[in-house]
Amino acid sequence: MAKLGVNVDHIATLRQARKEKFPSPVEAAIICMKSGADGIVAHLREDRRHIQDEDLFRLKCELKDTTTPINLEMAPTLEMQSIALDVLPNTVTLVPEKRQEITTEGGLDVLSMKEYLKEYIKPLKEAGIRVSLFIDPDEKQIDASIKVGSDAVELHTGEYANAYGSNVDRELERLRKAAKYGYEKGIKVFAGHGLNYQNVKPVASIKYIEELNIGHSIIANSIYWGLFEAVKKMKELIMEAYYGNKR
Ligand code: PXP
Repeated sequence: MAKLGVNVDHIATLRQARKEKFPSPVEAAIICMKSGADGIVAHLREDRRHIQDEDLFRLKCELKDTTTPINLEMAPTLEMQSIALDVLPNTVTLVPEKRQEITTEGGLDVLSMKEYLKEYIKPLKEAGIRVSLFIDPDEKQIDASIKVGSDAVELHTGEYANAYGSNVDRELERLRKAAKYGYEKGIKVFAGHGLNYQNVKPVASIKYIEELNIGHSIIANSIYWGLFEAVKKMKELIMEAYYGNKR
């Protein structure tokens, strides 16, 4: 069954709106883990619009007794590499980042940065960090990810999440094909972005996908249901998809 990584960025978005000390992504992470999450995801953006450097150290220290896996999303810059080597999260997910974007748009173009990423990833792996690359569901990008030494790829589910009508099936098929391809090539396959309570099950039923990373829909619905319930409901859908999966 796919594991659930809960992205707590938007807990920090709410805190930063008032520059207060609450709500705390660390307190939120503890609730997520109690409710069945398998790990916590946080994106340290260059402009520090939500997660702050201190949040990462606190997530790492205050959740250490729970052996909670921390997945740090970041742009492949030297500043971020140095922070990752200080924090030592379990996983680093490299994402493309543009200052003006509202959220991550498109996957990393690994093909065009092969030499750079190969060198960039080395010290992270030497420090025992698992490296994942956030890419579009494309076989060429998967091949390039394997070549640069990545342990995993996270397939961008944004196109699927934004699709309408017959395009939904087409995008789902793209994800399924890419997930199978990556799995058969021996790289771990994760997925995320734009997944919610309505669209998660078909993706969660793709047996080649090991992990789903979900943020906005869980945190947004926690306003209505509470965070514990919001995580629990998502986990239940993933479970239903898995046990109903005969593919
Ligand atoms: N995976 C990656 C690599 C992301 O950049 C994001 C957004 O920060 C997510 C998953 C979660 O996306 P969403 O908030 O739409 O669930």
